[in-house]
Amino acid sequence: MTKLLFATNNAHKLAEVSAVLGDGYELLTPRDCGVMEEIPETQPTLEGNAAQKARYLYGRTGLDCFADDTGLEVAALDGAPGVRSARYATDGHDFAANNRLLLRNLEGAADRRARFRTVICLIEGGEEHLFEGIVEGRIIERERGAEGFGYDPLFIPDGFDRTFAEMTAEEKNAVSHRGRAVRRLVDYLHGKRK
Ligand code: IMP
Repeated sequence: MTKLLFATNNAHKLAEVSAVLGDGYELLTPRDCGVMEEIPETQPTLEGNAAQKARYLYGRTGLDCFADDTGLEVAALDGAPGVRSARYATDGHDFAANNRLLLRNLEGAADRRARFRTVICLIEGGEEHLFEGIVEGRIIERERGAEGFGYDPLFIPDGFDRTFAEMTAEEKNAVSHRGRAVRRLVDYLHGKRK
């Protein structure tokens, strides 16, 4: 079993990512490795934040590790909330407040196109590798569904008529930004083992 440290304490994300990684990997969290403090995330881009988090963890533990950063990029809002997705409405991770603000900012907007974009930075043996995953879709006018987290109740991926919050974890993973980015990470890791 290959151990990999993943820079999250979010149980939803951990479950999503370990499902895609499969049986050969054991995911460790920062807490498992004694990193209790909040990991800094102060860069202006998803790429910068993913690298900053991975470098921080590598510096603290010396273990192979990866970090992801995700943004919801809304066309009519010039790509906002983007890198500020977690702290769109408040300083904390207040999903309900973020969703309310997004709906308010899109009130009356005809163009509701949006995409989730995830960037993963892997540090393996001290070397950095970036992987990206994107899912295109649209923002609906009121929340639907109770699964998932964050903006899931407002986002319908292209080709579907249900929000991410109305899908099972498997359905969401099959098309989601994070699922795609993690599959690229896995392809890379598996390719290296051959
Ligand atoms: P993070 O960089 O993965 O922590 O994501 C930043 C913010 O984007 C989160 O706080 C959520 O609001 C939002 N987000 C990230 N991934 C998802 C997702 O899969 N569904 C819905 N919202 C997400």
